[in-house]
Amino acid sequence: MKLESMSFRYDGEKICVLDQTRLPQEKVWLDVTEPDLMVEAIRSLRVRGAPLIGLAAAVTLAHAAKDANEDQVRALAGRLREARPTAVNLMNALDRLMNFAPGEMTAEQLMNETRALFAEDQMLCERISANGADWVLKTLARDPAGEPSLNILTHCNTGGLATAGVGTAIGIIRELHKRTGRIHVYVDETRPLLQGGRLTAWEMNELSIPHTLICDNMAALLMRDGQVDCVMVGCDRIARNGDFANKVGTYSLAILARHHNVPFLVAGPNTTVDLKCASGREIPIEQRPTAEVHGVKGAFGDVRWAPSTAPVFNPAFDVTPAELVTAWVLDNGVFTSPSELIRAIEGE
Ligand code: MRU
Repeated sequence: MKLESMSFRYDGEKICVLDQTRLPQEKVWLDVTEPDLMVEAIRSLRVRGAPLIGLAAAVTLAHAAKDANEDQVRALAGRLREARPTAVNLMNALDRLMNFAPGEMTAEQLMNETRALFAEDQMLCERISANGADWVLKTLARDPAGEPSLNILTHCNTGGLATAGVGTAIGIIRELHKRTGRIHVYVDETRPLLQGGRLTAWEMNELSIPHTLICDNMAALLMRDGQVDCVMVGCDRIARNGDFANKVGTYSLAILARHHNVPFLVAGPNTTVDLKCASGREIPIEQRPTAEVHGVKGAFGDVRWAPSTAPVFNPAFDVTPAELVTAWVLDNGVFTSPSELIRAIEGE
């Protein structure tokens, strides 16, 4: 079985990921077939993005099952599950694989389920992109021929690097660019790990989409000056009441957007909805190491700008309350209320 995306490859023997901590300086593919290496790759964000970590964990489990008994497979699922706590796609993908009754699980079944998950994610990205682009063109009344560029502000990275397909928020941006050719994207650099500056700016360039990189604290000024028509972000977990977790900094963008009357869209697949989670208060938020805020470490070198004695607060995600969301763009529709969204999912 072969699976391939912008940052993930499986050829039936080896699992390789494009090391996202080294982009954009260098494109290095790492062999992470050994499950411990995959757990480390997920923890350290070499492989990242809610949908992709779920898929990467599923492939790891299905591949390991070829040489492991059911108890060992279940133990590995537990370790993969704990690698990152916030993105529910990771738990959802593993739950789908672990759904077999005891004694009925085979490596072949797990592989088939994994293949289906991978193909599904690609299809979900396509649907989100089309739904979002339709909604934006209809709601923001854009005439592709006559109007000036549509300015979209995005945060973190939600594209081909973070999914098996074209992405979620970036998928919509890509689709709008394809349909209108009149898109301009403000890319939030996304402190502290710079997924916007390092990854989204890189993807925008690969896709030839006009863009401008900004520091996170510049968004208010742009909105005040009427330079942002719409904010579009991804998500790591959507609760039943429509609150959602996404990369830290998303909540402040949502407040700014409300203050300046800018539409605020959140895009994600139905695999990011947690039906067991009543509200954002129940979403577990990952706390990251202090070193990420004291400085940078990685392919760009090792620079520390804060005293090592400075205590640090470093949550990887924040929760945006539903009341600040204009619309939730999912594969199965665009919803302007959380109850519609949940009805659509439960009705499926
Ligand atoms: O910590 P990261 O880089 O994995 O965080 C990623 C995000 O917050 C994305 O917006 C989210 O996972 C959606 S990716 C389609």
